[in-house]
Amino acid sequence: MAKKSDEWQVSSSYQQFVKDEGAPLYEGSALEDLATLPLFDWERRGGKVAYTRLGNQEKVNLQVVEIRPRGELKPEHHIYESVMYVLQGRGATVIWQEGEPKQTIEWEKNALLAIPLNAWHQEFNSSSDEPCRVVFGTNMAHVIDLYHNTDFVFNNPFAFKDRYSSSWQRYFSEAGKQLNLRLFETNFIPDITRFNLDPYPERGRRTSVMRLCMASASLSLHIAETSPGTYMTAHKHGPGAHVLCVGGEGYELLFMPGEKNRRRVPLNPTAVVSPQLNEYHQHFNTGKTPLRMLAFKEQGYSSKYGTGKSYQPDLSAQDKDPNAEIYQISYENEDPEISAEYYRELENKGITLRLPPLNQGSG
Ligand SMILES: [Fe+2]
Repeated sequence: MAKKSDEWQVSSSYQQFVKDEGAPLYEGSALEDLATLPLFDWERRGGKVAYTRLGNQEKVNLQVVEIRPRGELKPEHHIYESVMYVLQGRGATVIWQEGEPKQTIEWEKNALLAIPLNAWHQEFNSSSDEPCRVVFGTNMAHVIDLYHNTDFVFNNPFAFKDRYSSSWQRYFSEAGKQLNLRLFETNFIPDITRFNLDPYPERGRRTSVMRLCMASASLSLHIAETSPGTYMTAHKHGPGAHVLCVGGEGYELLFMPGEKNRRRVPLNPTAVVSPQLNEYHQHFNTGKTPLRMLAFKEQGYSSKYGTGKSYQPDLSAQDKDPNAEIYQISYENEDPEISAEYYRELENKGITLRLPPLNQGSG
């Protein structure tokens, strides 16, 4: 029997859009392998496509696209923000404003490229024998739900020349600049597995992060990493974050507050985790190399554009008030079985524990 809420809920404009695209819509809190995720033929742009509705929300979503060898997609432009991550293969994207010269950006596996808002863009596979697969992290779902008019979203003549003009020759080639602690502005990163990060001890020992502001977008991104033999503390926040594993190996634990049955998702490059509202999540490195993640998030967290709202919960609140909501569980306060499971895992794999065992007074 349908739950009561199902009786009055209707499909969203985003869900209807995906249906009209003839594409699959993947749901849940994680997808274990974006590289082999089944995609459907995409009449609108060519290639193959699938969409996500992960974390039970429609603020941020992924559009997974494959282009056949020497193939190309039809050009498009749209009133939603989009950042492309290259899962496999190599190719190029041509970007332009209406009536202006085109710029070509060549990319290969692990590149990250921002598509400026409503600029034309067209993707090409430059390999003659391998398909290429890319993931667009977008706020498409939110924008389509807001305006529910695809003509407005995909056929809007407004040019955001404050964000991008083809006359800005070095827009995609210059290295970018650090704006603040853990905040970097750039429009193209050729290989995010080599991108320099800042230390982030608040989230765990030997953990680092860099938030990214790309193409003046409101959509937030960051790259985070935890070193071999360590894991990050469990934390929770609003829904919409999509965390892609881009290097290393490990696993993710997902659990609701107080829940003993934790879901475990293997983390290998091409896995994605997207926790639901208030779902605790925690990354564990079980490999010999750093475990590196790329996260797409909704507006506010890592943009240089303020939102008038604090997205950083008061992590010390629980020290002042025992009834305060807990956003992050410290190593010392987590269920001891969490670290025990991790230590066993490292022992089985012959990996050296770099995080001192908690019962040895690690502090
Ligand atoms: Fe998170």
